[in-house]
Amino acid sequence: MKVLVIGGGGREHTLVWKIAQSPKVEKVLVSPGNAGTALIADNLSYRPSEIEALGKVARDRDVDLVVVGPEGPLASGIVDYFDGLGIPAFGPSREAAQIESSKAFSRNLMEKYGIPCPRGSIFSSHSEAHEYLKRQQPPIVIKADGLAGGKGTIIADSVMEASRALSDIMEKKVLGSAGDKVIIDEYVTGREVSLIAFTDGKTVSPMLPACDYKKTWDGDLGPNTGGMGSYSPPGFFPAELAEKATNTVLLPAIRAMAKEGFPCKGVLYAGLMVVDGELLTLEFNARFGDPETQVVLPLLKTDLVDILLAVVQGNLDELDVEWSRDVCVGVVMASGGYPGSYQTGFPIDGLDKVDRDSLVFQAGTRLGDDGRVYTDGGRVLTVVSTGKDIAGARARVYANLSRIDFEGCHYRKDIALREIG
Ligand code: GLY
Repeated sequence: MKVLVIGGGGREHTLVWKIAQSPKVEKVLVSPGNAGTALIADNLSYRPSEIEALGKVARDRDVDLVVVGPEGPLASGIVDYFDGLGIPAFGPSREAAQIESSKAFSRNLMEKYGIPCPRGSIFSSHSEAHEYLKRQQPPIVIKADGLAGGKGTIIADSVMEASRALSDIMEKKVLGSAGDKVIIDEYVTGREVSLIAFTDGKTVSPMLPACDYKKTWDGDLGPNTGGMGSYSPPGFFPAELAEKATNTVLLPAIRAMAKEGFPCKGVLYAGLMVVDGELLTLEFNARFGDPETQVVLPLLKTDLVDILLAVVQGNLDELDVEWSRDVCVGVVMASGGYPGSYQTGFPIDGLDKVDRDSLVFQAGTRLGDDGRVYTDGGRVLTVVSTGKDIAGARARVYANLSRIDFEGCHYRKDIALREIG
């Protein structure tokens, strides 16, 4: 089989790495990929938004299966496009991808089908949103409706801050049409977990749960990022809670989407808050998480390609998906200045010093003409180690990370620390 993975981040490097292990796969293509994927796959030069060019190359290269990483092309209907070409693609249709691409859509679905979520209201008028806002107690959660690259959720500590955010989103349109509507949610506190499931639109097969670290600095301080690290599985989210989340969140969502006429095939990602043993759904995504994928897929024992095919063919219920009992910790190394402005083009040293039983999933990297790997993005790479317990995996991941260096690099030192603290 030939498999084409679309995307170029750490998530896609992990997918390529896992897919390449399948005895069914003779070749993996990735577009655009990065310096890490270039070692195990053929990197192509198309961006994920170049859907027609990707379709053409998939046809020319006789690709048997396409796996889409990022949300943008899914929201644009890339899976429908490949379906039209007769090339199986793993991921949701454009309609089903709205569970992620429109927060108003997913809130309406959750309310209609009784899926637990924080109280909130949807607004398409700035003045009505503003009037409502003035009656709320801070902190206040404001969410832009559309895709905003991780910048769409603001937690405001005062009505004035919330009002400014609302004006930026709805009047100044700082997020473009993603801010045509907003959702104003009650603020809830608890422990956050990502429960991501494979689904063929009828059956869900949850992966191991994972926690990600969105803030830049230790202690959950600083601005939001795309994710600075992750670990799996969290001790505070035992199998019973995962089962409860499957029965009260994932399965109801899948059944609701099928009933509404847009079954969700691919991945359903529930961002959950655990509050006193109860679950609230903060968000749904329709794709693999990043950096959660980097710590979850190394624990998958079943051939990933068998799962991807079962999803595409609609017989996921016939497959027994097996997971390791080990744990996994991943730490992201980022460019100096990230998530603000940063420079790229610095050589990365020490990649060859990483132990054979640890992994480096690259993201913002490129291969130089001199054969060296250079930084090429904000999140540069994730170092990943597994172990029998979090303390061991953590110790290994940081020992390996300390051997890698590039100018200005920064990383969090407290990933998974709360599990052993
Ligand atoms: N880790 C958060 C996300 O993938 O959306």
